Amino acid sequence: MSSVILAMDQGTTSSRAILFDRAGSILGMSQQEFTQHFPDTDRVEHDAEEIWESQIGVARRVLADHGLTAADVAAIGITNQRETTLVWDRATGQPIAPAIVWQDRRTAAKCEQLRQAGHADVVQKKTGLLIDSYFCATKIDWLLENVPGARQRAEAGELAFGTIDSWLIWKLTGGRVHVTDVTNASRTMLMNIHTGIWDTELLKIFGVPTQMLPEIRPSSEVYGETEPELFGAAIKIGGAAGDQQSALFGQNCTQPGMAKNTYGTGCFALMNIGDQPRTSTCKLLTTMACQFADQPPSYALEGSIFIAGAIVQWLRDGLGIIDSADEIEALAASVPDNGGVYVVPALAGLGAPHWDAYARGTILGLTRGTTKAHIARAALEGIAFQVADVLDAMKQDADVPIAELRVDGGAAANNLLMQFQADILRVPVIRPKVIETTALGAAYLAGLSSGFWTGCDDIADVWQTDRVFEPTMNADEAARLRTRWSEALDRSRDWEQ
Ligand code: G3P
Repeated sequence: MSSVILAMDQGTTSSRAILFDRAGSILGMSQQEFTQHFPDTDRVEHDAEEIWESQIGVARRVLADHGLTAADVAAIGITNQRETTLVWDRATGQPIAPAIVWQDRRTAAKCEQLRQAGHADVVQKKTGLLIDSYFCATKIDWLLENVPGARQRAEAGELAFGTIDSWLIWKLTGGRVHVTDVTNASRTMLMNIHTGIWDTELLKIFGVPTQMLPEIRPSSEVYGETEPELFGAAIKIGGAAGDQQSALFGQNCTQPGMAKNTYGTGCFALMNIGDQPRTSTCKLLTTMACQFADQPPSYALEGSIFIAGAIVQWLRDGLGIIDSADEIEALAASVPDNGGVYVVPALAGLGAPHWDAYARGTILGLTRGTTKAHIARAALEGIAFQVADVLDAMKQDADVPIAELRVDGGAAANNLLMQFQADILRVPVIRPKVIETTALGAAYLAGLSSGFWTGCDDIADVWQTDRVFEPTMNADEAARLRTRWSEALDRSRDWEQ
């Protein structure tokens, strides 16, 4: 009997393969970074072949390292960097250009034109998204406009579009299966999230031919089997989800009002809002959370924060006040409070819920008594304040209280940050034992469709708490700090024009 699920976690900077056993424990992991290409100041590209080679490479390596073969793997689950856009030739399987990464801003002007042309409302109503170069639609249009002959070839059905999940499934099945899951499709700005199908009006607005699109499928379903020669025998591909939705599921946030935050370079906070989409009035995104075969989908509200862990990197590389990111917790803990210092980490503008591309990083409240420890502490607090702003917007949009926040990502290991997060949110912050919740979510999806796990009750036992951070700060003090933060935030706005 098969003993493991193989999760493929294809992220923005590295490809990882993680083996989970039936208890949801990690048996092994293999990781490989790949090249980031920055051909211009507003451009970020990936080589799709390098993504594939690194992903298949780590998958084979982790199995070999543990003496396992295809027969030991019940199914593969895929989770991926979202929105990154690729177009390839259906006949040869060759990409027609490098993949345009989600961070790429080359279509910002086009998005502005589309907003000016009055398309914002219909796009938000149908897709839950705000028109932005972050999503796939204008990236596809750019490729069709700029690669010679691409538009005609796409219209003739010769080209295929896919996000990275589609690309990996295509490659794994030797080009037999061209699908995407609903969570990834919901980030293209082309799918109507109310119906779960590609929307003709949106395809027209963005100039995307329907012939190039993958079939939209549930997140947990067997899409096909791998080509036998890849692993020595065929393995089922049992599910896929965008990495943030996968983490939401991996955190077992399956009921409305349950929320998770991932503390990475930036932060991605998602809250399950149940089986009805809601249009945000607080500049959050509405997105598909998950879908099981033959069941209605569930939805989530999402807030993306551009700079979180990256502010710690900046303290290390830009200011040089720490030598390694791990040092920040001890430095911040060496002072009892922020000493009146506020750091607004708007190094790349402000994301949700403020959306100010012209805001810039700001440090306020310096005195002659200020030390690097106060700045370190204020930087961590700046991360937590941003998350609190997003969760407030979620509460307002969803009209449900948030009882707790589940956390993951690298900076979730920082106890001082987690305690401060709980203090200002006024709810417990819960860190699970398996912090690899993104990969775990994909493993759950594949494990459920393939019968490795029998149902959601089965996996509910897998998720276990490592530590709960209860709010201990007095409520008046928390409110005072948040007011001061809002004032600092206001001063960071609209700086770069
Ligand atoms: O929306 C972008 C997000 O999916 C990227 O996540 O973890 O690869 O940086 P990550």
